[in-house]
Amino acid sequence: MAKIYVIHENESWVEPLRSAFAEFRLPYEEWFLDRGTLDLGSVPPEGVFYNRMSASSHTRDHRYAAEYTGAVLAWLETQGRRVINNGRALQLEISKVAQYAALSTYGIRTPRTIAAVGREQIVAAARRLFEDQDGGAFITKHNRAGKGLGVRLFHSVAALEEHVASDRFEPSVDGIMLLQQYIQAPEPFIVRVEFVGGKFLYAVRVDTSLGFELCPADACQIGDAFCPVGETAPQPPAPRFQIVEGFDHPILERYRRFLAGNGIGIAGIEFIVDRAGELYTYDVNTNTNYNSAAEAEAGLYGMRAIAAYLGEELAQLRARAA
Ligand SMILES: Nc1ncnc2c1ncn2[C@@H]1O[C@H](COP(=O)(O)OP(=O)(O)O)[C@@H](O)[C@H]1O
Ligand SMILES: [Mg+2]
Repeated sequence: MAKIYVIHENESWVEPLRSAFAEFRLPYEEWFLDRGTLDLGSVPPEGVFYNRMSASSHTRDHRYAAEYTGAVLAWLETQGRRVINNGRALQLEISKVAQYAALSTYGIRTPRTIAAVGREQIVAAARRLFEDQDGGAFITKHNRAGKGLGVRLFHSVAALEEHVASDRFEPSVDGIMLLQQYIQAPEPFIVRVEFVGGKFLYAVRVDTSLGFELCPADACQIGDAFCPVGETAPQPPAPRFQIVEGFDHPILERYRRFLAGNGIGIAGIEFIVDRAGELYTYDVNTNTNYNSAAEAEAGLYGMRAIAAYLGEELAQLRARAA
């Protein structure tokens, strides 16, 4: 009997999805792909495969989970299986360069970015960017990232040079560091737009005043991220994640086309608007998570939407097989 298969490597992130499957009584199985064997002569089971492999999997001691998933997706796709967030989607998940290149073909503006491999090259790239933008601030980030890996703000090339030479410097797991134009928002927030089944679900506004790690999953909201630093503790903080009521913007149609053209059914796309009102898209998360407090407040639920969508896909598959 066909069922839903969820490809992942992080138990805590799929917990809310399990609840949604239970609620809709949908049959599913998880494939935890941190390691394993793949017999290329074997035939995959019938079903709908939902890939939610994460770019940051290597930080959970799953160094080759993304590569292994790529192999499994290639096998599934050549055998005609329905894959939500396919091999192409995975390529984008693990490379911001690939994301930016693909976004630009859909007329979506991204921040000016230079990719660099090698420490000297990183410094040279920073110098070029800094000169090109007349001394404006810039950031570093890892090409293969998630959870803000390698994101640091610099106001001078000298500061970057000193950082790159120091023990604090952390190279990207794929060796590619990005030097990127810093987009200064008039207020400290970014917007993350969620799509499920290729359709807009909601936009969530994320307060960035606490830093660059913006994972919305509940499992990521623990630790010291909320601990006030210093003596002047902030006033009772406004929620860090807030769903924007009735969000509508011409960018949504571009995102929709971009997702459809790149094998992505489910994703969260992040953008920042600068002082001049220009919108810059800078991150595509094919492995997306949702903030439960923000969802409860708005009465919208991403994991339920995913379960419902996968349930429809499964029903269609069964109808075709009958
Ligand atoms: N070009 C930029 N200008 C200003 N802030 C940025 C820029 N790029 C990233 N950020 C901040 O850093 C966070 C993490 O960067 P992002 O590209 O989303 O990487 P990740 O894939 O690790 O989430 C963003 O959510 C945003 O707050
Ligand atoms: Mg991000």
